[in-house]
Parts: sequence; structure tokens; C-alpha cells
Amino acid sequence: GHLHPGHDTGGRGVSVDLLRGPAPAAAGGPAGARERVRRFTLTAQPATVRLPSGGGAEAWSFNGQVPGPVLRVRQGDLVEVVLRNRLPVQGGTVQGGTVQGGTVQASNGQAGSGQGVTIHWHGYDVPAAEDGVPGVTQDAIWPGQSHVYRFRAEDAGTYWYHSHQNSSVAVPRGLFGLLVVDPAAPAPESEDHVLALHTFGSRPTLSVDGAAPSDLLTRLTLAPGARTRLRVVNTDTRPVVLGLSGVPYRIAAVDGGDVPGATDLDGARLHLAAGGRYDLTFTVPSGPVLLTTGDRPALLINGPAMPPPAAGPIVDITRYGSAAALPARFDRETTWVLDKTLAVSGGLPRLAQTVNGKAWPNIPTPVVRQGQTVRIRVVNRGTDTHPMHPHGHHVRILSRNGVPATGLAMDTFDVAPGEVWEVALVADNPGVWMSHCHDLAHAAQGMEFHLAYE
Ligand code: C2O
Ligand code: CU
Repeated sequence: GHLHPGHDTGGRGVSVDLLRGPAPAAAGGPAGARERVRRFTLTAQPATVRLPSGGGAEAWSFNGQVPGPVLRVRQGDLVEVVLRNRLPVQGGTVQGGTVQGGTVQASNGQAGSGQGVTIHWHGYDVPAAEDGVPGVTQDAIWPGQSHVYRFRAEDAGTYWYHSHQNSSVAVPRGLFGLLVVDPAAPAPESEDHVLALHTFGSRPTLSVDGAAPSDLLTRLTLAPGARTRLRVVNTDTRPVVLGLSGVPYRIAAVDGGDVPGATDLDGARLHLAAGGRYDLTFTVPSGPVLLTTGDRPALLINGPAMPPPAAGPIVDITRYGSAAALPARFDRETTWVLDKTLAVSGGLPRLAQTVNGKAWPNIPTPVVRQGQTVRIRVVNRGTDTHPMHPHGHHVRILSRNGVPATGLAMDTFDVAPGEVWEVALVADNPGVWMSHCHDLAHAAQGMEFHLAYE
């Protein structure tokens, strides 16, 4: 599980004195100054994404770039992020106004509507008040408004952030970025790159280290012999099959958590759920290395020659383990049967994605008590793949289709049609938490519910 010292009393959890501590510039200052504060501002604003192939897309961005800035902090840092919404208000730019449910009323009498924004720290198990879910942990931040998020970065790993308001539109459109928490101890890799996979329109793209996305082959030059970590983040709403060829590699981390005892893979491919992350490590060989996403050569290291794409079997990620002990017993058992149905709304038939036959907001809220262990059986009876994402917790994979697994910790796990996954959740982060399918269209069609602590 994840501990959140200083956050277990609810509320903001971070003392103001700490936040007035040394600014990032003073980092590495006096020895024993344990708290380092990292401050960032993320401004939601329009931008245009230009793809190297010639296409483009009108986007919503953080700070004018898509993906948004890579927030890179160190384990132990206090992270303070100011979110400002400067997206346009339909009907003109409204400043100094008041906001009511998405309608902005300016002091000059002008009114308009706009896109609300929040920031959810996907996979980073923040205290509930910082989780960025509109209507649950905060109100949406409307054009002209701002909001401050604060949390302590305790868990090293690869994460990402995205807006959670109208997310099936806002995230594909660009309101996302990457979050990396570097370990407090020096990392063994001298090369460390973070990759975002995202589709604009119908074009799969790759962004390396927060650079503009490319739908053509991206090239990287690395010194042969360099130990390298590629942090691959699927910011899309569909899964992707990754291939890495030209070098044996290891899956060093999944969904931000280290995978102990990983062994070299050669030519194996990987299925990465929407929202999920894999950290891949290898030593740069003398020849070229190729990363493919689906059928697409996406990243070529040390070309110009291109090795043949990986064509090996797809790794069953549930065979990978986690160092922490699994719960010895369970206080609660619950089942989520995933399916879809036609529901009538406003006199029209509409597709609903359901959990136990019900869609948002009619899915009952499971209630747990702090410290309880819950075994969840997830059964997919539908015809779509569902990347299930419980907020605030990583679950541990107990079994997949009846085959015992080794307790891998995941925050987004892909349940294919016909599959049955059993996962363990340890209730160690009190609050009211969203749980949903990360195919965000499915979430918008009803596959989302809360989990609450009593
Ligand atoms: Cu990545 Cu509820 O989200
Ligand atoms: Cu789904």
C-alpha cells in the first residue's frame, strides 16, 4: 500500500510553513533541509498541434504545449501546482466575472460558457482533496479561475496528469502532461526519457521528453553502453502493443511501481492499457534500437539502419510481481460485472456501459473502512476492452482468468472481453474516490462510480 504521512487527517494535509520553505532555486541548499518545494504553473489555453506529416489539430493545452510540461520532481519534494484556466469563453473573453455552473458572468455584463478544467494525477495516489475530480473533490475551474494543488511526492515512478472535467473530450484534445518522480537515491541509468503515446484525430503520435508530438519516426542518439530507461506512457483511450527490438530489455516498472527480479526479454511485445505506464530499461548496444507502437515504427535509437520490429509473443504482465506482501485475508469481497446495454434517455436509445447492470449515476458506491482489504472480481461480459482505473489506490493483481498472478501493483488494468481478473485493494487512502474505465468514452457512457470510506 501507499502511506501518506501528514495527509491522514483530511483537508489539505500540507502545512503552510512547509510551503513557504526554500524555493526550487534553493534546492540542494542547506544539508538537512528535507523539504524541498517545487512550484509549477499550468495554464489551460488553446494551442494548435502541428504534426510533421502535415496534419494538425486544434488543441487545448497546458502552457501552450501538447503534451503539457513534464513535471519532474524528486522523491520527498512538496509539489505545488497552480492551475489557471485561460480557455476561451464562448461569446468573448470574460475577465473579473463570477462563474455559475460553467456560465461565466462578467462584471461588464457579458456572459458566456466555457470548458472547465481540473488536474487529476493519474496513478499518483494523492490525498483525496488533491485528486482533481470535479463534483467529488473540488469544483471544476472555469475560464478566468485558478486553483492550487499540493501533495508530497513520496513514490518514485512514472505518472501523468490530465483534466478530469469532460475528460472524454478534454484529454484526447490535449489537456494532459507527464509527471516523473525521481528516486531520492541516484538512479543507475544515465539516460532517462519519458515518452507519451497519443492519438490526434486518427494519427498515433509519440512525444519524447515533452517535445511536440510526431506522427513520423522520431530519432534519438544515445551513447553505446549507456544504461537507459524509457518511460512509456499511454495517454490514449485505447490500448497499444509496444515492441522494442535490437536489444534485450527489462520491464523495470509498471504503473509507477518497480518490478523486482525482472529478467531480460528479447523481441517480446507488451500490451499497454490506456492510462498505463511501463518503464523499460536496457544498455544501449552498438547497433540500432527500434520502438514500435502497433505496426508503426515510432522511435529509432542510433539509426539510420532499422532493426526488424519485435514480433515475439505478448508478455502476460500479470506474471510479474511486486515486492510488498499480499493481504493474507480479505475483509470484503465484491464483483464488478462489466457490460453494455441500450438505455433509453430523452426518448432515444443510448449506449450505456454498465457495472453490475447499472450506469452512472446509478451504480452503488462500495463503502469500505480504513485499513480493510477488499477482493474485487472484475468480469467482462461485454465486447469492449475496459481499462479499469480506481483512483487513489494501486490494486494488486491476484489472478487472471483463474490463473494465479503474483501481486503486481497496477492502477489501470485492461480487462478484455470474456476475461475475469481478481484484484486486491487495501483501503489505505481515505476519501471518496472515483473508479472508472479509462476508455474515457466508456466512462462518459456510464462506466464510472465512487468508492467511499466510512
Ligand atoms: Cu486518468 Cu479518472 O483518470
Ligand atoms: Cu471501458
